[in-house]
Amino acid sequence: MAHSDTWKRKRERAEHTLNAFLKNRLPFLHAGMRALRLCVRKQLWRREVTNRLRRNQPLTNRSHLPVLLSVLGLRGEGAEVGVLNGYFSELILMYSDLSVLHSIDPWHEFDGSYDDKHNALQCEQDERHAFTCKRLAPYGERSRIHRMTSREAAPAFADGSLDFVYIICIPTNA
Ligand SMILES: C[S@@+](CC[C@H](N)C(=O)[O-])C[C@H]1O[C@@H](n2cnc3c(N)ncnc32)[C@H](O)[C@@H]1O
Repeated sequence: MAHSDTWKRKRERAEHTLNAFLKNRLPFLHAGMRALRLCVRKQLWRREVTNRLRRNQPLTNRSHLPVLLSVLGLRGEGAEVGVLNGYFSELILMYSDLSVLHSIDPWHEFDGSYDDKHNALQCEQDERHAFTCKRLAPYGERSRIHRMTSREAAPAFADGSLDFVYIICIPTNA
């Protein structure tokens, strides 16, 4: 066990060093390898999701969702309501074929009536917003960030205009 842990750590360190070298010295190769890795992973997940659906097995991981959208042929616009630091928005952009993802979150400090462990001081909300913008920037026009509540954003979306909406329970009536 300890032996395989040592090897795992050594391999991770070597991968990290190689990655940093390529990123700094050969950025085009680095970007190409990243795209290839993503493509392979997308195909593997796609196969897993398709097999599970064929066997009537449940999808056990929320990471399967973006791939499911792709398998279902959904290529229109989608939205994530409640984005936090953009982790799941990025997953959707990476593994689905949605043409546009709207990431909606006010990133503001809620008062005491909002019961969510992720509620934070305004300065932290500002940092989360900046981090999300940076994180989703590589997706260009496919990513649109709306710094507002779902209620404020709703009028901008016509009925039936979205193929997919992802909402993690938001304990507020905003
Ligand atoms: C549990 S976190 C979201 C986690 C994220 N969906 C993920 O999977 O990583 C809840 C987020 O909802 C946002 N939020 C709360 N009320 C909202 C509202 N009315 N409209 C949009 N976002 C809201 C909060 O600012 C917070 O960032």
